[in-house]
Amino acid sequence: MVCPNCSSKFALSQALFMCPHCSGLIEIVNRVENFSGELEGRGLWRYARLIPGTYPKIISLGEGGTPLIVSRDYGNLYLKFEGANPTGSFKDRGMSVAVSIAASLGYRGVIAASTGNTAASASAYSARAGLASYVVLPAAGVALGKVAQSIFHGSKVIELDGNFDEVLSQVISVFERASFYPLNSFNPWRLEGQKTLAYEVCEELGSPDYMFVPVGNGGNIYAIWKGFVELREAGVIGHIPRMVGVQASGASPIAHAVQAGLDVPRFVEKPETFASAIRIGKPVNWRRAIKAITHSGGFALAVTDREIRDAQYALARREGIGAEPASAASFAGYSLALSRSLIAPDAKTVCVLTGHALKDPDA
Ligand code: F0G
Repeated sequence: MVCPNCSSKFALSQALFMCPHCSGLIEIVNRVENFSGELEGRGLWRYARLIPGTYPKIISLGEGGTPLIVSRDYGNLYLKFEGANPTGSFKDRGMSVAVSIAASLGYRGVIAASTGNTAASASAYSARAGLASYVVLPAAGVALGKVAQSIFHGSKVIELDGNFDEVLSQVISVFERASFYPLNSFNPWRLEGQKTLAYEVCEELGSPDYMFVPVGNGGNIYAIWKGFVELREAGVIGHIPRMVGVQASGASPIAHAVQAGLDVPRFVEKPETFASAIRIGKPVNWRRAIKAITHSGGFALAVTDREIRDAQYALARREGIGAEPASAASFAGYSLALSRSLIAPDAKTVCVLTGHALKDPDA
């Protein structure tokens, strides 16, 4: 493991998240060998050999293996529907890995700050593991379906005043003292689960030209990019897709930083968008997200709530896919990129649709 900030190196530890020297977020270095040999079964644990660490207890609900749906309207567009995961979002991939670690290492509970989906997923997986679960949500603006899932699976739901960024900083300040395993995406082990989306796309499609990903905290776009980087280093693919990060215009510090060429984003104090899952002004993984976008030769876009709404409807009515607003941001970004001629219409593209429409019936 390495700290990209101060270049410190660490032995593999499933309980190390931040650099003890500079507080940078630790990255896991993984070398993939013989990618297609010994891949068995379906879903996330099909890639067990390619996920570092040891897993005496595996907590799985059959996550991963989600549909890659060919678009009806666009020639070379594929829609990776993460809403088909057990709790209805991509979070289940990382949660299966991270909760397996918490159960294996004997933690007494897990904790996560969330705009909703992380909480729903953490709740289901910790119920399955028999672990206590604490989910900390901003008191206002979390989609109904996600709060209901958290309560239903028996989590202790704590609502705090303030936005997600404030809630997350509180969780970061308490998790170690409370001996809870943290399930937010600053935990690099969660991202090891999420990178398997790249493996699936690669097995089904090879390496696309572009991957459009909705960006909130920035963990998922980094995880997917990392998966592709590992495959290129192993010689499985010849090129890494250009990663395109899409944010809602009222909460777009990463899109702005990439467009303006800033080294450090200008964080947004009061993020605003109806896509509540990505209503994040101070993304904890901003360095990782910018790295994934710039190192892959990609770009970033901010889309308006109106564009997200139109994309959500187009997906529902033209493609038959129910995506929650934040998820539809990737498709909104794709439409915008086409209309601005930022990508060619025949470019092989995957839009990641991160969560299910049923999550947010009020949106
Ligand atoms: N799409 C959905 C549906 C999400 O729930 C999230 C994040 C994202 C996209 C953004 O992913 O943070 O890795 O860039 N939801 C988190 C949560 C913040 O608490 O559920 P990211």
